[in-house]
Amino acid sequence: MDYKKLVAERIKEHVDLELNLIERLIEIPPRPEMGDFAFPCFQLSKVLRKAPVMIADELKGKINKEGFEKIESQGPYLNFFMDKGNFIKDHVERVLSEGEKYGASSIGEGKNVIVEYSSPNIAKNFHVGHLTTTVIGNALYRMMGFEGYNAIGVNHLGDWGTQYGRLIAAYHRWVDIEALNKNAIRELERLYVKFYEEAEKDPSLEDIARKHFKNLEDGCEEEVKLWNTFKELSLKEFKRVYDMLGVEFDSYAGESFYSDKMDAVVEEIAQKGLLTESNGAQVVMLDEYNMPPCIIKKSDGATIYATRDLAAAMYRKKTYDFYENIYVVGSSQSLHFKQVFTTIKLMGHEWAEDCKHVGFGLVKFAEGKFSTRSGNAIYLEELLNEAVVKALEVINEKNPNLENKEEVAKKIGIGSIVFTYLKNNREKDIIFDWKEMLNFEGETGPYVQYTYARGKSILRKAGEIKGIVNYSKVTSSEEFELVKAISRLQDAVLLAIDKLEPSIVTRHVIEIAKAFNKFYNAHGILNAEDEEVKNTRLKLVEATCQSIKNGLYLIGLDVVEKM
Ligand code: ARG
Repeated sequence: MDYKKLVAERIKEHVDLELNLIERLIEIPPRPEMGDFAFPCFQLSKVLRKAPVMIADELKGKINKEGFEKIESQGPYLNFFMDKGNFIKDHVERVLSEGEKYGASSIGEGKNVIVEYSSPNIAKNFHVGHLTTTVIGNALYRMMGFEGYNAIGVNHLGDWGTQYGRLIAAYHRWVDIEALNKNAIRELERLYVKFYEEAEKDPSLEDIARKHFKNLEDGCEEEVKLWNTFKELSLKEFKRVYDMLGVEFDSYAGESFYSDKMDAVVEEIAQKGLLTESNGAQVVMLDEYNMPPCIIKKSDGATIYATRDLAAAMYRKKTYDFYENIYVVGSSQSLHFKQVFTTIKLMGHEWAEDCKHVGFGLVKFAEGKFSTRSGNAIYLEELLNEAVVKALEVINEKNPNLENKEEVAKKIGIGSIVFTYLKNNREKDIIFDWKEMLNFEGETGPYVQYTYARGKSILRKAGEIKGIVNYSKVTSSEEFELVKAISRLQDAVLLAIDKLEPSIVTRHVIEIAKAFNKFYNAHGILNAEDEEVKNTRLKLVEATCQSIKNGLYLIGLDVVEKM
């Protein structure tokens, strides 16, 4: 039963307002003693020409109270108190029958949504900022899929541009094959650095590099072969990280994918009279929007990052007819996306409005091992591995006899990082602090995972729940608040999608875990006062575990059954 709807329907029986409007007016009171829903009578006061306090009082006398514990008037508000037993029964049963689908819906049915995330550059280190886009994007991708959208996860790989000409030139001269086989990205990065050092002494190297890139664009076998090698080696390393994180994509169409699709875009821009020459480059002027021009072709005729993004947006619209096209990319690129979206708008495509940049802050390191290196030199895989090692240390201390310790440490260690990344508003900088992240008592991944494991351990000890279950016996404030938290999971997911802000779900999962621990500390479960209470509390535990599991899945974490 949807209590909010019921409240609206009961009011509607006595009031001449649209049901929709009534529903929108209903508020959640700030304190439990004010009930679960409140209806403010100000709006009615205008229609009925009566004081709102009087209306609230009169309505209270007339309204059908069935299904409610009580209905009270307080000043201009009519306060509704749900029948707790009913409410708890409804929700717990719903969670248990819907299982993994609890919180899901078909709200997004028929809508294609592109979620572009991760998008690292090949032959370059996958750095901590790429981890942010990866986990935010993965969370949005999962949430949208959960709510019925047809989500398309795109990894817009950075795999095109003059720098690959440089890399080819450097490869010919200085590659160390053994090092390449051992750690491809490190060796390729070394080659980059070497190229710049050498090019300073011998500027003709830049011409050679340009020639290589031109050959690559023209499809010359030698260059294409090397570039493919760089790409394969890089993808192999990226995929290892994606596997560790449980992240997947539907498409790896990156920048090179658009190399043959740019001419058409440039032509369209020219045809629409938007292309101007500026210092030898071809640009779209954006003065009117207080932005620097969007560069389409550099003075040497080469296309750039923005051109490829324009081609990508056009391609995505044509291929997926998207409802929304979301780019999860650091806030430092927000001007770039404004320029690209404005250019699309100027080209006359209304769907420019459906393109959204989801920005995020920086990752900062608290004191510790990684703080001594420059942010960019941190290898993500090392970071993830270190988290696993640290989680294992904690397990060895707390529960040395645990089975599958390594498996559990992986889920907890990596989960603790993902959770930290998704805990706060995405525009905020992320503070990377091992101590805080792995604290089992803080607002952390391990805390929530531990809460789940604790619930599971109770359920294992109890065995199958046999006998009478009676929800009217588990209506204490802790039990009621726990079920209320569980009942709001879907609202949190929908809000997170609406605001493109996964932290709303992370915070909600923390809220459920906290409510569970309050309940657990206040009430005996296995040693409850009688069988009925015990059975019913066990159902609450089951529903809690399911909700935590679903919530954690949505932000990209796995649960562990024992820890
Ligand atoms: N490869 C870029 C980088 O690492 C991010 C790409 C973002 N996506 C896009 N469509 N421009 O900075």
